[in-house]
Amino acid sequence: MAVSVLFVCLGNICRSPLAEAAFRAEAERLGFDVQVDSAGTGDWHVGRPPDRRSIAVAARNGVDIGDLRARQVSPADFHRFDHIVALDRENLADLRRMQPGGAKARLSLLLDHVPGREGDAVADPYHGEEEHFDIAWADALAGARGLARTIIDAEQA
Ligand code: 4NP
Repeated sequence: MAVSVLFVCLGNICRSPLAEAAFRAEAERLGFDVQVDSAGTGDWHVGRPPDRRSIAVAARNGVDIGDLRARQVSPADFHRFDHIVALDRENLADLRRMQPGGAKARLSLLLDHVPGREGDAVADPYHGEEEHFDIAWADALAGARGLARTIIDAEQA
């Protein structure tokens, strides 16, 4: 059965689309079946494609994210996804506040899945330079690999 994962940042145009793409690529590499999506806690960019700098860094790393469109996280997501993974601590706090009772989703911080990076945020590159998008990609990929390991370990436990 497919494991479902939702990645959440603030705007759903910079970081969470990168995490979505990195995790999809990692799952494909490992040959496991996943349903992956991303969303934002905010609604400013709903319906828009990812930031052109995120599209560019993904393309430099061999992934096309141009077809993704931003959406806002909703209460139904907490019932639909097995894992909801926040890109920073504010996103995680917002998710905890909006989590409905009885929801199945496990909430976590992306870099908590990376040994030695626990508690770290994927820094918001929105007001930064291209190099900040390279850092966001590297963090998203490390987090995606760590999350895949977490899921595999949980299935084997
Ligand atoms: P994201 O980046 O949360 O990684 O998508 C941001 C995008 C837009 C804004 C903030 C962060 N904004 O304030 O519009």
